Amino acid sequence: MTVHFIGAGPGAADLMTVRGRDLIAASPVCLYAGSLVPDEVLRWCPPGARLVDTANMVLDDIVAELVAAHGRGDDVARLHSGDPSVFSAMAEQLRRLDAAGVPYDVTPGVPAFAAAAAALGRELTVPEVAQTIVLTRTSARATPMPPGEDLATLGRSRATIVLHLAVQRIDAVVAELVPNYGDDCPVAVVARASREDELVLRGTLADIAGKVREAGVRRTAVIIVGSVLGAENFADSHLYSAARCRD
Ligand SMILES: C[S@@+](CC[C@H](N)C(=O)[O-])C[C@H]1O[C@@H](n2cnc3c(N)ncnc32)[C@H](O)[C@@H]1O
Repeated sequence: MTVHFIGAGPGAADLMTVRGRDLIAASPVCLYAGSLVPDEVLRWCPPGARLVDTANMVLDDIVAELVAAHGRGDDVARLHSGDPSVFSAMAEQLRRLDAAGVPYDVTPGVPAFAAAAAALGRELTVPEVAQTIVLTRTSARATPMPPGEDLATLGRSRATIVLHLAVQRIDAVVAELVPNYGDDCPVAVVARASREDELVLRGTLADIAGKVREAGVRRTAVIIVGSVLGAENFADSHLYSAARCRD
């Protein structure tokens, strides 16, 4: 028996990996976060599967479900939105499964930031403009940020920043980023990336907050900030250069 942690992707069911889909189809138990995992994905569960929505559950109850499945010898598909390596709360589940001696594996998924970049039709690393992406969030009601990971500090590099769980704090985000990035720095807010009701807002640090308010975006959105969003006259990459030695 194994608990399969599976990245369910950003919302479009056909962005699930083939491996993830096959593991769901082979597991008699499926735990999923109701608001973020699409219904189509749950239809891959085998007939009679035990489906558990974890949206309103506490960690102890979730782990109890996993341990009980282990006791029955049932495989579990444990779905997390996007990719489980970022902002998924998988780490504390793994720690408890280790303590309980329950085996697990992890299958990656398409993260929200990648789905947002696709919606924008943009590469987020462009030669000589931006080669680093900071995936972060802000601390509001949730877990505090570690020292040194505030936006003013992270922004000193002027690397591309992708903010999760932050759109409700767009005014504070803008205020913290303007000193390093400048008013005219390009910004995109992508809400519900890859879903049918996907919404893309483009602007600058000067006007994005107004656009977010006007559109009424309050959740399931990433904020992408960086000059890479406006990059046009950049050098070609070395990757496909005719001058590159290919021996
Ligand atoms: C708990 S985090 C999960 C992140 C996820 N593990 C990932 O790989 O993207 C939830 C946040 O991810 C972002 N997010 C998740 N799905 C999204 C989507 N389809 N479009 C835009 N942002 C999304 C939002 O910032 C949301 O508040």
